[in-house]
Amino acid sequence: MLQNLSHLLSQIQRGDRVFLRGDLNVPIRDGQITDTNRLEAIMPTLTKLLDAGAVVTLATHLGRPQGHDPEFSTGPIAHYLKANLTTPIHHIQEFPPAADYQQHLQDQSPGSVNLLENLRFDVREKTNDEDFAKLLISGCRYYVNDAFGCCHRAHSSVSAITRFKPSFMGLLIEKEVQVLEEIRDQPQRPFWVISGGAKVRDKLGVLSQLAPRLDGVVCTGGLANTLLHGDGVDVGASVIEEDALDTIRDLLSGDVQIILPTDFIAGDQPFNPQETQSLVSGEPVPAHLSFFDIGPQSVNKICQHLSQAKTVFWNGPAGVFESAEFSSGTRTLAGFLAQLNARVVIGGGDSAAAVRQMNLADHFDHVSTGGGAALEFLEGKSLPGLVALETANSHDSESHDSESHDSESH
Ligand code: 3PG
Repeated sequence: MLQNLSHLLSQIQRGDRVFLRGDLNVPIRDGQITDTNRLEAIMPTLTKLLDAGAVVTLATHLGRPQGHDPEFSTGPIAHYLKANLTTPIHHIQEFPPAADYQQHLQDQSPGSVNLLENLRFDVREKTNDEDFAKLLISGCRYYVNDAFGCCHRAHSSVSAITRFKPSFMGLLIEKEVQVLEEIRDQPQRPFWVISGGAKVRDKLGVLSQLAPRLDGVVCTGGLANTLLHGDGVDVGASVIEEDALDTIRDLLSGDVQIILPTDFIAGDQPFNPQETQSLVSGEPVPAHLSFFDIGPQSVNKICQHLSQAKTVFWNGPAGVFESAEFSSGTRTLAGFLAQLNARVVIGGGDSAAAVRQMNLADHFDHVSTGGGAALEFLEGKSLPGLVALETANSHDSESHDSESHDSESH
């Protein structure tokens, strides 16, 4: 059974040592964190634990390093925590921590944080190695997973680790699961999906799972280009996934309304374009131009259709929003959705990044912190991290007894 943070808080004692797995995989440029969303998202769980007097070992992966690589150090995260929390923060730079780490934990006063180095500095993290998991959790009495964005990875600090100590989900995972489950299983209707972004195949699993309860799909990006091309419309050099066309058509058959864009902003390249052109669907497109955004006519049409929606799931931006020339469609759509009287959930890394960049994230019911994890959840796949939490506390109590309360020094 999934145990949440309240279950833990009802039994924790001041000085108990807790291992908290976060997904603090944040973008860092020149040593500066450029998007702090995932750090803010862990704060509710972290502060509850600190308020309860826990000594927290906080751990995350960061990027995809091949072994130890200072470029992927959690140092900038330690700086962020020091700047944003008044509690003592220790950055444990040796990884895996040295033998005296356990003594260090014993010596900590209640309400302190020990941030480990990047979990992926040790290759055993990604192989779900039990000994590595044991090493991570040793010295801690409880395990909390609040790393929703990693729950689709069967990695040691997410999966194997739950075999050794009582395990709980944090507040972020609880909220993600609740919102995404509602979207997946019982959305209020009319229910619309806005599907965009470049990669068509990545969208099909989610569309297929949601299709039985869907009233309409707004197609933008690669999905729109592929369907338009299939209908014989000239899309110039736009990226299409022709081999996915039959599957898309099958998925979107039946009573689902399909909205396709009717005008576009085309360009010679997605970033720093030398040439851009506004085009209307059906007119010839110069062979060297691709559609990188939808035009104002399309945005109006989309907003009209969505105005009656009760639930909207937005996955994938309408254009290359990072380029000023191609950001208008995504920006206008985001502004419209932010004030729509409906449950609007943003999922997938790029659409979430777009609304955060536009400072609109607070206007939505939920902006998922999990890119791949959110999509796999909506596809109906079981996520190893959640499965591990569900089965964790049914394990033999013997496997949990190596750090009994009685033997702890507080
Ligand atoms: C993410 O950014 O989606 C998660 O942190 C998972 O990262 P990964 O794709 O490198 O496992």
